[in-house]
Amino acid sequence: MINVAVVGFGVVGSGVVELLDKNNRLFSKKLNQEIACKYILDIREFPGSIYADKFVKDFSVIENDPEINIVVETVGGATFAYEYTKRALRAGKHVVTSNKELVAKHAPELLALARENGVCYLFEASVGGGIPIINPMYHCLAANELNRIVGIMNGTTNYILTKMIKEGVSFDAALRQAQLLGYAEKDPSADIDGIDTGRKICILASLAFGKHIYPENVMTKGIRGISLDDIYEADRQGMVVKLLGCAEKKDDGFVEIFVSPCAIPREHPLANIEDVFNGITVTGDAIGDCTFYGRGAGKMPTASAVGADIIDCVKGTEKSSLFWVDADNSTFVRSFDKLNLEYFKNDIALLKE
Ligand code: HSE
Repeated sequence: MINVAVVGFGVVGSGVVELLDKNNRLFSKKLNQEIACKYILDIREFPGSIYADKFVKDFSVIENDPEINIVVETVGGATFAYEYTKRALRAGKHVVTSNKELVAKHAPELLALARENGVCYLFEASVGGGIPIINPMYHCLAANELNRIVGIMNGTTNYILTKMIKEGVSFDAALRQAQLLGYAEKDPSADIDGIDTGRKICILASLAFGKHIYPENVMTKGIRGISLDDIYEADRQGMVVKLLGCAEKKDDGFVEIFVSPCAIPREHPLANIEDVFNGITVTGDAIGDCTFYGRGAGKMPTASAVGADIIDCVKGTEKSSLFWVDADNSTFVRSFDKLNLEYFKNDIALLKE
């Protein structure tokens, strides 16, 4: 019997609990044993919830229960989530998360801690929502020298830009809609100022290039300043504006990495990725370009990625493990001023290919 504790009953956490319930037979079949959510930790009250008997408020209940095999951390942020993750790993429990902030800040330490304790720390849901990207990039493209990652990695901003492009809707109205649909972060500035995309490109680039890249080393611009005029001007020139995260390993070994609104030609593979969808193109020396596409945010798509990690960590610790080496990235990440970006106008970069 596999017992799961879900920490944080927000959009993603509640999706995971529902998915474990709804597809319980499917999970059990794949795992060859029963699985259930035993606890849900949240400081809030959920009166009338059908899961009322599972709620706890004290993490030590989870930490000290030898029956708990997997902790799903969907608290978000890097304070409580950081403490809970370390305590869970030290207690010999696998941890699965959607928390990109925590992964981008502390993955080297948490991955090492997982390894020391013979468990997994998996975070497929931290990038691209429901899109399988981390596992396929890390495992299925393992035979490639990866040299470039370019993608739309934030559903909220892609939703906003799509509304502006297709319907001439104002930035503020589109943001409110994205919040209502459950796509946006608690503080939407993480979405619209590019911080969320910054965390995601750091996670992918760290996995692809083998050294940890911290978000503070990444030049990051968001879409707050983009106006309908910018959108129309791009349209007149046969382009669309998208918020992209880009990372490229150069011949001298440096990584050039940035987040910026970019004008891209209408024929570009990422130009027609709309609404909450994300698209990420990874380039390897054997495969060439490989693009991953799907729902980049939202309750059930993100729960889908968490669910896959739950199955993965039960099925095989060695195969499921992710590793990267921490490094002094002053000799690894090219500084902003040497990035040599071309600009379409103002703060909008130009990406031709
Ligand atoms: N706020 C994020 C987004 C959620 O809009 O993409 C998924 O990481």
